[in-house]
Amino acid sequence: MAHDELPIPIFSSLEPVYGQGSLSDEARLRFHHLKSKFLHLFGHQPHLFARSPGRVNLIGEHIDYEGYSVLPMAIRQDTIVAIRKHDAGESPKVLRIANVNDKYTMCTYPADPHQDIDLKNHKWGHYFLCGYKGYHEFAKSKGVDIGEPVGLDVVVDGTVPTGSGLSSSAAFVCSSTIAIMAAFDMNFPKKEIAQLTCECERHIGTQSGGMDQAISVMAKSGFAELIDFNPVRASDVQLPAGGTFVIAHSLAESQKAVTAATNYNNRVVECRLASIILGIKLGMKPKEAVSKVKTLSDVEGLCVSFASSRDSSDPVLAIKEFLKEEPYTAEDIEEITEESLTSIFAKSATSLDVLRAATGFKLFQRATHVYSEAKRVHAFRDTVESKLSDDEKLKKLGDLMNESHHSCSVLYECSCPELEELVKICRDNGALGARLTGAGWGGCAVALVKEGIVPQFILNLKEAFYQSRIEKGVIGKNDLGLYVFASKPSSGAAIFKF
Ligand code: GLA
Repeated sequence: MAHDELPIPIFSSLEPVYGQGSLSDEARLRFHHLKSKFLHLFGHQPHLFARSPGRVNLIGEHIDYEGYSVLPMAIRQDTIVAIRKHDAGESPKVLRIANVNDKYTMCTYPADPHQDIDLKNHKWGHYFLCGYKGYHEFAKSKGVDIGEPVGLDVVVDGTVPTGSGLSSSAAFVCSSTIAIMAAFDMNFPKKEIAQLTCECERHIGTQSGGMDQAISVMAKSGFAELIDFNPVRASDVQLPAGGTFVIAHSLAESQKAVTAATNYNNRVVECRLASIILGIKLGMKPKEAVSKVKTLSDVEGLCVSFASSRDSSDPVLAIKEFLKEEPYTAEDIEEITEESLTSIFAKSATSLDVLRAATGFKLFQRATHVYSEAKRVHAFRDTVESKLSDDEKLKKLGDLMNESHHSCSVLYECSCPELEELVKICRDNGALGARLTGAGWGGCAVALVKEGIVPQFILNLKEAFYQSRIEKGVIGKNDLGLYVFASKPSSGAAIFKF
């Protein structure tokens, strides 16, 4: 059976996930600490634990929600959720969500799975609630009876740095959803859980695409994964020997949920508008395009047919022909769609927020990024699988990463000055390629570096990028290891019952 068809593995020891060495020792301490905090807060032991990792995306940025494949790998940093489900009749009937880190004070919610999440008042515990609501909806759709709501006690321990573009939110949502599912004695194929957790996270108000949850749930140690969507699927990608991915934080925080209306969701809306207009220009009736076209992948076929009339298969030709480079105003677009934007997006409150905040729509640039980035993902995978030598492969992968960054920065405008500086420093210090990773607007860069120079490379980054920030007190000298580290492809979500 394909590994993404299997249920989430259940282990009774740490080694299958954390290995034998120091990582296991570190994990043992974390579990020990979680248990004692749990006992101290709630007077009981947890029933079980679930863990899910963060990820670094190697290539394929801002294209998952347009239906295109992406190529991430899981990192070792993860979120562990300890949980105890109350017996029926036990009080209090609430969800109590605590954290080992005292910075996150306990959040308490009613046990009602239909409650609304207060998005205007962002709280860290909301991500658990995303899993709680989503799991109930999923169970209902499967005809699983989970009975009357009962209380849940939860303690969380996360090591994925927040606001880093390394998917701390997906690690939290996935580990929460899986802990809830396991507390109700259920398990499902990883593929289904990947889809479910993506829907769960949308309760926080981002229209995210599903990459982060898919890799967090389906990752396999030693492999990056090519993730396809509709339906979600993972195929192993064995990276060439001799290269290491170094992850470095720009120290600009990327707050995806908080800035959704101007950044992340704005781009999702722009892509939708670009695809509707392309659909219309390529022959669809405006009404039909508005109701049927959701993503750029929906109109790729039309764009490619157009390109074939010019002896090409590149959908970007259609963009050059039919979209203008200057930003569109709402009126420009409405003239083409023959329908107001507020009516097109009437069912999506988060898209309406985007419309209220937007001043213009850069459809040409966004669509060009998406089609070209989608191609780079396949070029990356084809390179890995080609007959080239490892050195030649690494060089080509680095070039693709550089091209991806350029497109994210110039066309998609999801970079920021700190990321630009960091990416340049990576390249100046011998990286074969470097790019922002994740949603952008802050967070981390990922650099492909020859294995032999990794320690020197990290030292150079420290000097050129971090030293001045340490001196200004932005980060502590001893915390550098949290912000710049080499990463190997790690394993995906797991349940522990000891
Ligand atoms: C965030 C989202 C993902 C993806 C990336 C950008 O991490 O959660 O779904 O869109 O941004 O590639």
